[in-house]
Amino acid sequence: MKQIVTTANGDINVLKVQEKPDPTPRDDEVVIRVRAAGLNFADILARQGLYPDGPPKPCVMGYEVSGVVEAAGKDVNSSFVGKSVVAMTPFGGQSEMIAVKATQMFEKPEKLTFEQAAAIPVNYLTAYALLVVMGSLHAGELILIHNAGGGVGLAALDIAKKIGAVTYGTASPSKHKFLTERGLDHPIDYRKQDWQPQLMQLTNGRGVDLIIDPIGGAHFKKSYNSLRHTGRLGMFGVSAGSANGLSGKLKMLKAAIQMPRFHPLGLFNKNRGVFGLNLGHMWHEPEKVALWMRDILRGVDEEWIRPHVDQAFSFEDVGKAHRRLEERKNIGKVVLIP
Ligand SMILES: NC(=O)c1ccc[n+]([C@@H]2O[C@H](COP(=O)([O-])OP(=O)(O)OC[C@H]3O[C@@H](n4cnc5c(N)ncnc54)[C@H](OP(=O)(O)O)[C@@H]3O)[C@@H](O)[C@H]2O)c1
Repeated sequence: MKQIVTTANGDINVLKVQEKPDPTPRDDEVVIRVRAAGLNFADILARQGLYPDGPPKPCVMGYEVSGVVEAAGKDVNSSFVGKSVVAMTPFGGQSEMIAVKATQMFEKPEKLTFEQAAAIPVNYLTAYALLVVMGSLHAGELILIHNAGGGVGLAALDIAKKIGAVTYGTASPSKHKFLTERGLDHPIDYRKQDWQPQLMQLTNGRGVDLIIDPIGGAHFKKSYNSLRHTGRLGMFGVSAGSANGLSGKLKMLKAAIQMPRFHPLGLFNKNRGVFGLNLGHMWHEPEKVALWMRDILRGVDEEWIRPHVDQAFSFEDVGKAHRRLEERKNIGKVVLIP
């Protein structure tokens, strides 16, 4: 089978398609023939050598796949064989075939293509945990979604709309028309101007109830300062550090140094909450994640979960896929097709 191997830290030239032996399932696993694999920002950071959770190089990235079950281990119901599924994979998903624990697999909703299904797990589980589980977003509340046009951003917009929140979103201006059509109430251009004064003007100086922030570094402080009373800040990424080579290492170091510290007195005097999320540290809580996933898949049936695929690239074109995210051109999800 073919796999996309990140052979070393570096630019897109370190990405190679290589042949590997086909996997066989352990007792509690299934083997999936992959029809589409999700690409995530974490894969870019890993390639740049800036993702502490990434496996040692050479490695195969890929947190999610959709495909067809080809074989089942002896403890797994054999009726799964031949079914179309979507699954979460702790790395290795960017492969023609992958063995995964049966507990990490869900039936693919019929109304979704394989490409759309591969756009679900990471983006929607992250957004669900941020908005519903930890952010406790309520109808009528105001939410600011940073990178609203990205994979997680669009997922968060779907969920915020369903809840009935008022939505503010930062994004590159080329994405604003799409975002407005998709239901974003207030798109904010954060590339040419500072987003904070714009947000304050739009909210009559009050700020918002929930902000989800994947930018990191000093940006977390700025988001924190844009909360109204009982506001919450969800921190879940450090895209501020993304760059190739030494520049990336320096940017990541700067982001780490500039991370704010939150004092309990400040939090309770301002009635604010802060929390962090790392979906990649939830593998030991499969029951919890499965509950979230079932809600999300119900949302697919009810049509308020609308995974949007920006573009699908063949494995051979993985470099172009990485570049699309790095150049900020994607709207929603980029997927890879074996
Ligand atoms: N903690 C977790 O569990 C978790 C899970 C999933 C994702 N994340 C994080 O969430 C963020 C979004 O992830 P995603 O996979 O959905 O990717 P994505 O948002 O589709 O990523 C690409 C987009 O990010 C924006 N962006 C912001 N800063 C950037 C930079 N320095 N370089 C390139 N693009 C930048 C760009 O959009 P605009 O210019 O339009 O804003 C770009 O189009 C990432 O920081 C990722 O690490 C965290």
